[in-house]
Amino acid sequence: TTIDILNGPNLNLLGRRQPEIYGRETLADVEAACAALAAELGVALRFRQSNHEGQIIDWIHEARESAAGIVINPGAFTHTSVAILDALKAFDGPVIEVHISNVHQRESFRHHSYVSLRADGVIAGCGTQGYLLALRRVAALAA
Ligand code: DQA
Repeated sequence: TTIDILNGPNLNLLGRRQPEIYGRETLADVEAACAALAAELGVALRFRQSNHEGQIIDWIHEARESAAGIVINPGAFTHTSVAILDALKAFDGPVIEVHISNVHQRESFRHHSYVSLRADGVIAGCGTQGYLLALRRVAALAA
């Protein structure tokens, strides 16, 4: 079983970008923690990040053939991208949406998520631990 964890724009700057909101852990730290949990759960992990909407869409298409489930933090594309929503609708396995920050506590433009129209579950405001919670959930649903 392979699980994809897909990260959207600006998440490559995690740990250095607005640390008061997103914390000091880097995306490499998050990947290492997810890899350790994946090993424990007995699933293979692909952990990816792109600042480009089309790249994320291509990875979701690839997941149709080669992943049992998707964890996605679409970053700001959460609030703008019908195209990522449509790509996820073409994926049959479980999808969990993650936000490091509590988007509902922030600006009103962060309160709406296109991706939530497809996601089986949403984790927000749990910091980077949200990725681990989402990975457990998607692995359980994909089993
Ligand atoms: C985010 C929340 C989004 O609103 C924001 O654009 C991000 C990160 C989060 O993880 O809290 O880039 O998805």
